[in-house]
Amino acid sequence: MTVKSTNITTVAHRVTKEARWRANGHKGGVLWFTGLSGSGKTTLAFELERGLHEKGRRVYVLDGDNVRQGLSADLGFSPGERTENIRRIGEVAALFADAGYIVITAFISPYRRDRRQARRAAVDPFHLVHLSAPLEVCEKRDPRGLYKKARRGEIADFTGVSAPYEAPEHPDLLIDTARLSVDESLALLTDYVDRCFALPGRDAEG
Ligand SMILES: Nc1ncnc2c1ncn2[C@@H]1O[C@H](COP(=O)(O)OP(=O)(O)OP(=O)(O)O)[C@@H](O)[C@H]1O
Ligand SMILES: [Mg+2]
Repeated sequence: MTVKSTNITTVAHRVTKEARWRANGHKGGVLWFTGLSGSGKTTLAFELERGLHEKGRRVYVLDGDNVRQGLSADLGFSPGERTENIRRIGEVAALFADAGYIVITAFISPYRRDRRQARRAAVDPFHLVHLSAPLEVCEKRDPRGLYKKARRGEIADFTGVSAPYEAPEHPDLLIDTARLSVDESLALLTDYVDRCFALPGRDAEG
């Protein structure tokens, strides 16, 4: 990306990050889901959001399809456009996290370099969560019929079929969604969030 903005200065907030965290009762940060289409990103992101919200957490999901109808409506699926999409999500996620939210992002985000950039954009804790399931399993699930379309040549640049997926080498959390049920996966995620977003000295369950 070419940076074109000049004569810009950073303006400091009068509300500190710590004050936001104290008000919310937990840290803010990014839970970045990555995985093939059909690996379970949307299913788990929205269930996790519901569960955390019910426990009083400030939480918000950024999901691929929703974002592509608005913020990234001008972008397709070429490598360059995927990179730009993930760059925008990374920046938006960083803003939500700065506002004190637990942000769950649910994007295939197939390129390592793009995920690294998203991690760099996040000043707050950033946790890379790999929802891992073999291509064969995801293709068999095919919840939206996208693999069938891609195999028929009706979708160009489809991850796993005609575009690459670079699996994370060192995810902060790996969930094997081929072996685990939705409920088992959710339990692992909830436990992880309770541990990683707790404020020092506060009961994680509080
Ligand atoms: N452990 C699991 N976690 C999540 N989903 C699971 C699990 N086991 C089975 N599934 C099923 O797998 C499918 C996952 O579909 P989902 O739309 O969440 O995938 P996605 O990763 O968001 O795909 P896309 O990138 O196309 O948006 C659902 O039908 C879900 O019920
Ligand atoms: Mg999805």
